[in-house]
Amino acid sequence: MAEPSYLSAVRASYDTVAVEYVARVPPPDAMDPLSRAMLAAFAELVRAAAPRPVADLGCGPGRVTAYLAGLGVAAFGVDLSPKMIELARHAYPDLRFTVGSMTAPGTGDDALGGILAWYSTHHTPPRCLPAMFAEFHRTLAPGGHLLWGDYVGDAHLRPTRGYGRPVSYESYLLPLDRTAGLLEQAGLVVTARLEQEPGGMARRPHGCLLARKPEQP
Ligand SMILES: C[S@@+](CC[C@H](N)C(=O)[O-])C[C@H]1O[C@@H](n2cnc3c(N)ncnc32)[C@H](O)[C@@H]1O
Repeated sequence: MAEPSYLSAVRASYDTVAVEYVARVPPPDAMDPLSRAMLAAFAELVRAAAPRPVADLGCGPGRVTAYLAGLGVAAFGVDLSPKMIELARHAYPDLRFTVGSMTAPGTGDDALGGILAWYSTHHTPPRCLPAMFAEFHRTLAPGGHLLWGDYVGDAHLRPTRGYGRPVSYESYLLPLDRTAGLLEQAGLVVTARLEQEPGGMARRPHGCLLARKPEQP
């Protein structure tokens, strides 16, 4: 089956901006304290569950994957952009990074102790989110955790430049409650919500959701 055109646009755009992305986006240590707290809480939750790998889906250059690994999590990264994965492998040779799409992570049923989707789902058209979140549910082990973080709002953006370079991706900002509802529809239980005003490295409102796959279906 032919790849949806939005995935090709995301891949080409992030291949183009990858080096600039690393230069312009501050590393996890410089994130706002609440976002770091959510990452720390997620790490603690997945460490406390059965020891299973944790997928950072849309890992970009791997800095948040490495941050999680530093918190004692068996994290690996997946990204659509080969250039991003090349940078991640170069920066963190001890970690596993794979080119792939979070719409079809290539992971077995119930295989993951956790999934991180960190500022990586906003390029996915809302009509495609139910299928993607169903994949999150399928691949998480019962009792496994999801941490989702991203911009929130109610907008469809078509930028022509990003990180100082030409891009062709589109962005879809959704109200936090809508994303939470889609995760619940996929069978996950949302356990925490955080919504933040613009500030620090985020020029837009942004938020986090923690969710869990129930032990019993
Ligand atoms: C804004 S960057 C965030 C990267 C990383 N999570 C971070 O916080 O540094 C978005 C990343 O998501 C990736 N991405 C977007 N849609 C994807 C998909 N369907 N599958 C895999 N990666 C995707 C892009 O290639 C890009 O590297």
